[in-house]
Amino acid sequence: MGMLATRDWYDLARQTNWTPKYISTEQMFPPQFSDGYGIGMEFWEEFDEPYKVTYRDYVQTQREKEVGAYSVKSATSRSEFYRKAEPGWKSMLQFHFGSIPFVEYGSVSAFARMTRFGKAPGMRNMATFGSLDETRHSQIQMFFGYEFIGEHRAFDWAHKAPNTDNWVVISERHCFDDVEHTRDAVSSAIMTNFSFEQGFTNLQFIALSADAKKYGDYSFSAMLQTVQSDEARHSQIGEPLIEIMLKAGRKEEAQRLIDISFWRVWKQFSALSGVSIDYYTPLERREHSFKEFVENFVCTQFLRNLNALGLDKPWYWDDHFLPDINTYHHAQQIGIYLYRATQWWDAVAGVSPRERDWLEQKYPGWNDTFGQTWGVIIENVLSGRTDRTEPQFLPMFCNMTGLELTGIPGKNWKVKAEHLDLDGRRYHFGSPVDKWIFELEPERYKGHLSFIDRFVAGLMPAGPEGAFEYMNMPVGDRGVCGDNYAWANGYRNRAAAE
Ligand SMILES: [Fe+2]
Ligand SMILES: [Fe+2]
Repeated sequence: MGMLATRDWYDLARQTNWTPKYISTEQMFPPQFSDGYGIGMEFWEEFDEPYKVTYRDYVQTQREKEVGAYSVKSATSRSEFYRKAEPGWKSMLQFHFGSIPFVEYGSVSAFARMTRFGKAPGMRNMATFGSLDETRHSQIQMFFGYEFIGEHRAFDWAHKAPNTDNWVVISERHCFDDVEHTRDAVSSAIMTNFSFEQGFTNLQFIALSADAKKYGDYSFSAMLQTVQSDEARHSQIGEPLIEIMLKAGRKEEAQRLIDISFWRVWKQFSALSGVSIDYYTPLERREHSFKEFVENFVCTQFLRNLNALGLDKPWYWDDHFLPDINTYHHAQQIGIYLYRATQWWDAVAGVSPRERDWLEQKYPGWNDTFGQTWGVIIENVLSGRTDRTEPQFLPMFCNMTGLELTGIPGKNWKVKAEHLDLDGRRYHFGSPVDKWIFELEPERYKGHLSFIDRFVAGLMPAGPEGAFEYMNMPVGDRGVCGDNYAWANGYRNRAAAE
């Protein structure tokens, strides 16, 4: 029996819009879930997805990808690989598998909302595949992570993380709830598909996959690639939506959605991918610095796409984003190392003398700034006072990012906390951009309590163990130095020689 070619039936088959008889269009597509901008149906009819796929093709391609990734996994002895891996690589795997799967799982529902409430049939079609993609991303990453559960307790967090109030998890939830889950389908699709997926997932899934390949972690690399190839497809929902917004005279609103989500997701990826790439990946296996990856994927490719659509770079690009590329993840890494007990993974410092040379070469001025703080940590480690490298008090958190408030230490000292007083409460922000986002819509953000706010509000059990109990982290489930201070040995020898 002859079969029609896809191009002969695709457009016809996916034009499934109809005019409802018994309810109004408004009831079928409530603005708060669907399109908060009141864009007319005539615009939605023109939605044209750049990447067309049918269910039959989809299933076949996905099956092949799965078979590929799972056979690499079963061909390589993963436990053996893990045992032999360098401590930094272990930190990275532990961090990744605790942080990513639940965000993927959340994305299933974000796409499902686009499937139900998107007004354009092409958008609903692509989003249906998006939901299936994200289901697969949750499953494969949980499965690959769980393989190591006999090797290290941290991999339990692939499943456990979202059910805790760990501070890292609170920070992630705050960002992705805002971007993916609490806005109408049009807004969250632009924020999720365009800013988050097109802007940043490359950093964790392509950059890290290149490092993984170089490191010989073929199954992690293959797994990341299967995920990113889906991202490359479903992230394309964003572009036709932005085009429709512009045609309907909604440029200002589209730009604002990008400006908010770009910053929010940048902060998350800076802490996750920035630390993983510049501090955890073993030195010999680093493909590029995090900054070089950002310059390529974000400053070049993403910006080009943004401009091609007729939008501008976010207002804070030159004054806040570009400087942040050189600084933010370095500052976060210091906090992550110091507060290692509060995280599920065993963090390495990644600042042995040779690694410092690399950091100084990639980030000129690193020694005079972040290196100065590490100098104090090194002194304490060398004199056997490792207790002094673990602060006994909680840090201040940004009320937008949920991450530690940081600045630039050392010779270029630049630490300035922004704050805002509202309804008898003081809110702290890590940057003017975080404050700007808050002030756009205080009602959206003001009820949230950061980790430190919860402590002050008495929500945690009393005593020194209170914060750990609150995070569901009994003794034995807390991070320790990933290489048991071996990183400082180079300085020990140097001190002895002097
Ligand atoms: Fe995903
Ligand atoms: Fe995705």
